[in-house]
Amino acid sequence: MATINARAIVYPQYGEPINVIKAHSYQLPAPESLKDDQVLLQTLATPLNPSDINQIQGVYPSRPPISIDSLPGLKEPSAVCGNEGVFKVLGTGPSVSGLKPGDWCIPKKVNYGTWRSHAISPEADLLQVPNTIPLTQAATMAVNTSSAYLMLSHFVDLNKGDWFIQNGGNSQVGRCAIQIAKKKGINSISIVRDRPNLKELVDELTSLGATHVITEDDSGSKTFGKTVKQWTGGEPIKLALNCVGGKNASDMSRKLTKNGVFVTYGGMSMKPVILPTSLFIFKNLKAVGFWITEMTKQDPELREHVISEVLKLIQGGDLANIHCTLNKIVNDQVTDEQFVESFKQGLLDSKKKGKQIMVFD
Ligand SMILES: NC(=O)c1ccc[n+]([C@@H]2O[C@H](COP(=O)([O-])OP(=O)(O)OC[C@H]3O[C@@H](n4cnc5c(N)ncnc54)[C@H](OP(=O)(O)O)[C@@H]3O)[C@@H](O)[C@H]2O)c1
Repeated sequence: MATINARAIVYPQYGEPINVIKAHSYQLPAPESLKDDQVLLQTLATPLNPSDINQIQGVYPSRPPISIDSLPGLKEPSAVCGNEGVFKVLGTGPSVSGLKPGDWCIPKKVNYGTWRSHAISPEADLLQVPNTIPLTQAATMAVNTSSAYLMLSHFVDLNKGDWFIQNGGNSQVGRCAIQIAKKKGINSISIVRDRPNLKELVDELTSLGATHVITEDDSGSKTFGKTVKQWTGGEPIKLALNCVGGKNASDMSRKLTKNGVFVTYGGMSMKPVILPTSLFIFKNLKAVGFWITEMTKQDPELREHVISEVLKLIQGGDLANIHCTLNKIVNDQVTDEQFVESFKQGLLDSKKKGKQIMVFD
């Protein structure tokens, strides 16, 4: 009986991704052999996110098990990389009622192992998304877009005309936050790292809806506070979103108003978050963390609610296509070595060239 030639990127031990990831080839049953509630999936697109890298390094608290049962035919215990992505249904078992071939879906749970060409899942583990939305939006909506949406709505009641500030303004989360805020009429100040083509980046983020884009140096300058006050007309900045840490985060915290909330959701600089003592005492600063994995694990309905809200934004044309590089893989035309090489190259490029998304043809 015909089978599907599938491949996945796996790691048998924690370490630097380019040193430990491997390709694993395995067979899956053809659509006509599926049983019960099984859904056979072909991966369409999967991003290479910072948290995927941290998982492989073994430093991310939520990790898939390194197990011989992760995939058929494994010769050593391994985990499958990747947390989000979008799949096309190739076939369904006899008791599947809500999905049919050609539909798109995303995993309901984290640690799914999305860096693979194909998968088989119970229908209950999958959430259907319209197959008419842009592929890159579908592949990234569960983590980054949903995080931006949640952080702008969960901590502070931000209304039309209010202000928030964020660092990592050109990260994928940052770009989503800019656009979601714009849709809600919320003003944003986005901090980015300086670069030779800064104007290009500022123009790009402004065209997405950023109210103001500043550099780390601007944010750290003692005199720049006056400019910020002029921009806001003295209106309070109620929320700060931090994915960088270090001096960048300390400088950003000083822009917050009394009773402002400082949310840390990432640590791209690998430096600790140090916040001025005076802000806690005299401004009653509230510093909290955000982790979408835990929040949506505690409240699975919230995950589906946020995804439906994000879908409305995508379908309404309020979120521009994801700023990324697409790396195409034709699974049945490459060797295991070429398959893993394309992921390694994507990982290297993600350090210098922004978001990388692997796309399967
Ligand atoms: N807690 C959660 O639930 C959650 C959910 C989603 C994402 N995240 C986190 O959010 C962060 C952003 O994720 P993403 O996928 O949106 O990232 P991304 O698109 O890959 O962008 C990475 C961003 O980090 C910046 N950056 C990297 N190193 C830096 C440094 N040393 N100093 C200052 N900025 C630096 C980059 O700026 P340049 O362009 O200047 O390099 C870029 O803006 C990550 O830390 C990720 O783990 C957390």
